[in-house]
Amino acid sequence: MRGKRENGRYYTAGNPFGHPAFLAWAELARLRYATVLEPFAGANSLIARLQEMGLCKAFASFDVAPANTDVRRRDTLADFPTGYDVCVTNPPWLARNSATARGLAFPDTRHDDLYKVALERCLDNCPFVAALVPESFVRAGLFHDRLFAFVSLTADMFTDTGHPVGLALFDDSIGHPNRIQIWSGEEHIGNLAQLAARRPKPLPGGAEVAFNDPFGNAGLIALDNTIEASIRFCDVRELAGYAVKPTGRHITKITVDGPVRIAEWNEALAAFRADTRDMLMTCYKGIRKDGLYRRRCDWALARGIIHRVG
Ligand SMILES: C[S@@+](CC[C@H](N)C(=O)[O-])C[C@H]1O[C@@H](n2cnc3c(N)ncnc32)[C@H](O)[C@@H]1O
Repeated sequence: MRGKRENGRYYTAGNPFGHPAFLAWAELARLRYATVLEPFAGANSLIARLQEMGLCKAFASFDVAPANTDVRRRDTLADFPTGYDVCVTNPPWLARNSATARGLAFPDTRHDDLYKVALERCLDNCPFVAALVPESFVRAGLFHDRLFAFVSLTADMFTDTGHPVGLALFDDSIGHPNRIQIWSGEEHIGNLAQLAARRPKPLPGGAEVAFNDPFGNAGLIALDNTIEASIRFCDVRELAGYAVKPTGRHITKITVDGPVRIAEWNEALAAFRADTRDMLMTCYKGIRKDGLYRRRCDWALARGIIHRVG
């Protein structure tokens, strides 16, 4: 287990390459005519999937710990292969705080996760990159100038994690958020700028809202349960006897210096979730019974909803 985490080594089990966004990107990248670079190849399963689909005639695969004879041993973070136009990969994922907590080495970098370092190497060296990344990437605002499309993949991609995962597709044109096409599974949602415009943002001069206040006048269940989209504002009396923690992020009492409009807040929250298919909300580990990721409502979103309802 430790070895697995050390190299961010969770192999891909599912096949995301039949997705229409990937196939459109593959045309753009002229994938079937390219020598495909897989710089973090593990057992080379991504290349095998592409080959099964007739999308890869030639490849160059590397890994610091190869698990297949088609994969050459190389530390590609230190010595990235050059001269390839198209890269398809699932890079190592390892959060800096998780590395620190486990006493693992972490590179000297501005990034907070190893996958961002790996992605930067890929993007610096290849015009076209397709990468399986944490679903939170779409909200991180990183490398969006090169992002062509993003797919939130809720089908089981990794057999041994349960981590929210997305497929990020990049090209060589320096673009605008208006062009970034967003998909929730098979459903096309719109472009990222349209989605971002639908997020209720706090208003300067809006009512003061304090979270985790034991004497609050409203309640917020800020985390989905394992069954469905269940985040909601509630009457604070429902939380009578619940001791809020100063750093709690899941169930809280809030003090709103203004009207308390539970029903209207919940309507606004439901409309935002339906419009954006939750893509702008933080994920929590695990897929709900209705097939979508569990989400969390952060305090900025809750404050934005309260301000916009007025
Ligand atoms: C998340 S796994 C994915 C493997 C494969 N791409 C797949 O999807 O099944 C990441 C891989 O990156 C490799 N890796 C980690 N650090 C590396 C480095 N510095 N250079 C090359 N490979 C590295 C690990 O050994 C692991 O096989």
